[in-house]
Amino acid sequence: MVKAALILASLLSLACAKPHSARDLRLHERRDDVPDGFTSKGPAPDDSVLNLRIALKQTDITGLQDALLDVSTPSSANYGQHLSLEEVNQFVVPKPETITAVNAWLSTNDLTATALSPAGDWLGFQTTVSHANELFDTQFTTFVHDATGTETIRTLAYSIPASLQDHLDLVHPTITFPAPQNAVISTPLKFKPISTGNLTADAAPTSCNTAFTPTCLQELYGIPTTLATQSSNKLAVSGFIDQFANSADLKSFLTTNRKDLSSSTTFTLQTLDGGTNSQTLSQAGIEADLDIQYTVGVASGVPVTFISVGDNFQDGALEGFLDIINFLLAESAPPQVLTTSYGQNENTISRALANTLCNAYAQLGARGTSILFASGDGGVSGSQSARCTTFVPTFPSGCPFMTSVGATQNVAETAASFSSGGFSNYFGTPSYQTTAKAAFLTKLGTTNSGKFNTSGRGFPDVAAIGVDVEIVNAGQTGTVDGTSCASPIFASVVSLLNDRLIAAGKPVLGFLNPFLYSTGASALNDITSGDNPGCNTNGFTATAGWDPVTGLGTPNFAKLLTAVGL
Ligand SMILES: *[C@@H]1O[C@H](CO)[C@@H](O)[C@H](O)[C@H]1NC(C)=O
Ligand SMILES: *[C@@H]1O[C@H](CO)[C@@H](O)[C@H](O)[C@H]1NC(C)=O
Repeated sequence: MVKAALILASLLSLACAKPHSARDLRLHERRDDVPDGFTSKGPAPDDSVLNLRIALKQTDITGLQDALLDVSTPSSANYGQHLSLEEVNQFVVPKPETITAVNAWLSTNDLTATALSPAGDWLGFQTTVSHANELFDTQFTTFVHDATGTETIRTLAYSIPASLQDHLDLVHPTITFPAPQNAVISTPLKFKPISTGNLTADAAPTSCNTAFTPTCLQELYGIPTTLATQSSNKLAVSGFIDQFANSADLKSFLTTNRKDLSSSTTFTLQTLDGGTNSQTLSQAGIEADLDIQYTVGVASGVPVTFISVGDNFQDGALEGFLDIINFLLAESAPPQVLTTSYGQNENTISRALANTLCNAYAQLGARGTSILFASGDGGVSGSQSARCTTFVPTFPSGCPFMTSVGATQNVAETAASFSSGGFSNYFGTPSYQTTAKAAFLTKLGTTNSGKFNTSGRGFPDVAAIGVDVEIVNAGQTGTVDGTSCASPIFASVVSLLNDRLIAAGKPVLGFLNPFLYSTGASALNDITSGDNPGCNTNGFTATAGWDPVTGLGTPNFAKLLTAVGL
């Protein structure tokens, strides 16, 4: 990491300023219209400062993706042979000619850039609106987010020099608008009193009678209650938008729900971009409390880290989504599992940017990290509701290099109606999913025809309980609903499997999907009822085999142990 950054820096200082005479600019990215909910206020002030990032073309991203699949596919000879930071960087570090071309352009234009990623494939620089307008032959504009009044400077199209076309993936933030806070998956989380009804069928564990708790999940999925033993095993929880995980709430939750755990059981904190983790009880976040209580409280004895990403993100509109991955990529031993219960509609992010983020997940996956995200809570209409005429896939669930987790409810489990699922418009069907997806589409016939992209990557991949999940927040006990519950629960199961794999001297699971869609499929409880309505349709229906509501199903720990070879 250090090496790449240094090379870049020295090239920067050596490059001499030679102005280009002719400017040959080519349109690089554009969007057709201003996204819903934003209004133009006219040209941005010339002297406003922009923090721009540029993504440089990576040397061999196909090679990285092939290497990822090679080490993640159980039938491969290299299964489990995860890559080192240096090995990953060899694929993603820009070619020397790319660095030369970009540095020449920067210096011609009096710009000084800094490396923002371990491989130096992201650079950042500051400039003014008037300079950026000229550099990219565009007109940066002030847009107002109607609901919040927040102003943001963006453009609808930009060009780059023809000489950089083979060297630059994108300039950001340009055509990708900030995710309004209401588009973040976690926001619909509502804190409810525990129901007095009966959630369960006759045969269900009585611990699941009124709410889902760690004890109930242990019985339902066969999750062990015994402590994990491997201290090198790490389970990381992402925290964004000032959602703080409260230690007192965790303690109170464990005191009620995990009497068998030591009362000092807690999590460690990592921060970036100015992140904090206020312990003021009134500031305890529902999302963060949920994520911490269903990792520490389910992955018994696995060291859990809460990673709080602050508001000083280096990645513009991405709210720290790219920063946290670059932060973990730079670590010599990144966490073996990362769970994230945030996301947004795919169409809010430019294709090029979605690709770049997805490739960052491929890098971390190649290092041996299982990356899990909640699929979203808007059924087939994504994180926006109702008005849609075509289904809206969520990001990053459409990215083929992460694991998307949908939600179920009740015992016997059935799909939760809000469980986002469907097909990406940006990413094609990954090889590991071809057979499972084709089988579903055959059964589907012409239902919902024209409302989704049949060639896109289907999601979610798996599911777990996401309705009536008991938590403690700001000292109060209640329940929450959301795929936000399902991701930490599934991540905890993966961490407990990793604990046993490490103890047996075996590699951890890493990128899960090639395993899940092959030897892992029969180790999951196939969910075959319920649907995810939206956009004035019934959405998709959960059915035998993979489906875009509950994926391949929910965990069965005993069967998963066998499937991973223990
Ligand atoms: C829920 O149903 C189970 C099984 O029928 C029963 O044993 C339990 O008492 C019921 N709980 C409540 C709160 O009604
Ligand atoms: C459908 O998905 C594919 C990716 O598989 C993509 O290339 C294509 O542009 C998508 N179509 C639309 C209309 O978004």
